Amino acid sequence: MSSEKRKIAYIDGKPYEISANHTSILKFVKSYVGEKKVPTLCDDPNLAPYGACRVCSVEVALQKDGPTKVVASCHTPVAENQHIFTSNENLQNLRKNIVELVLTDHPMECGTCEVNNNCELQDVANDLGISDHRYNSPKQHKGIPKDTSHDYMRMNLDNCINCGRCVRACDEIQGSFVLTMSGRGFESRITTDNDMMFGDSSCVSCGACAHTCPTDAISDVFQSKSAAVDKKGKNYMFLLWSWV
Ligand code: SF4
Ligand code: SF4
Ligand code: FES
Repeated sequence: MSSEKRKIAYIDGKPYEISANHTSILKFVKSYVGEKKVPTLCDDPNLAPYGACRVCSVEVALQKDGPTKVVASCHTPVAENQHIFTSNENLQNLRKNIVELVLTDHPMECGTCEVNNNCELQDVANDLGISDHRYNSPKQHKGIPKDTSHDYMRMNLDNCINCGRCVRACDEIQGSFVLTMSGRGFESRITTDNDMMFGDSSCVSCGACAHTCPTDAISDVFQSKSAAVDKKGKNYMFLLWSWV
């Protein structure tokens, strides 16, 4: 028997053992209390932690009843005796605010979107009960034309939420470094090679970017994420999008 001392951390007051594969608070929480306990947008378990969107925020205290700090769970290591709080009014408000800000620059046209009912952004917004748009249209449509120049891949950057997952998938999984996040703020956008059309770029059509994209901003012509071809038969609640 191993003489190594078991390390414990607490999730919402209950103790759980930390194991070697719990490389972040998010992984620790997911493994014990379920995939959907903490929402995420920029995280993909197949990619290195990034910590950009903060939707995965949790509160952590270093001792019982001690002061808490809000941290992004996807890139914060879990440590012995941490007290992790996954859900309370503050966290719910923070997550809602973040997702509403993301939606200020995302067209509200789910009814006509290819991935309607099979979209991570739609899931997260629905789960947070976002039923209205409180931040009125600083720039709700980027107006970026669709790029259909590639034989196998499509770009519809009007639906991009700048999570950076495609850039990291292309770098970390494929090693191709085709995609870049260019510009700042509302002007940020994904570009291919030196701002080439997708079809003229050095893309090798592996599909890793489309696979990780949480919306339909990058898609694979032969691997549609349309719910019409999704055999999982998910049951969705429609809030904000149902009227479109
Ligand atoms: S399909 Fe092209 S752009 Fe996308 S990850 Fe693969 S090589 Fe990169
Ligand atoms: S194209 Fe998709 S994966 Fe890439 S930054 Fe935009 S939303 Fe994220
Ligand atoms: S999912 Fe953790 S910061 Fe985006």
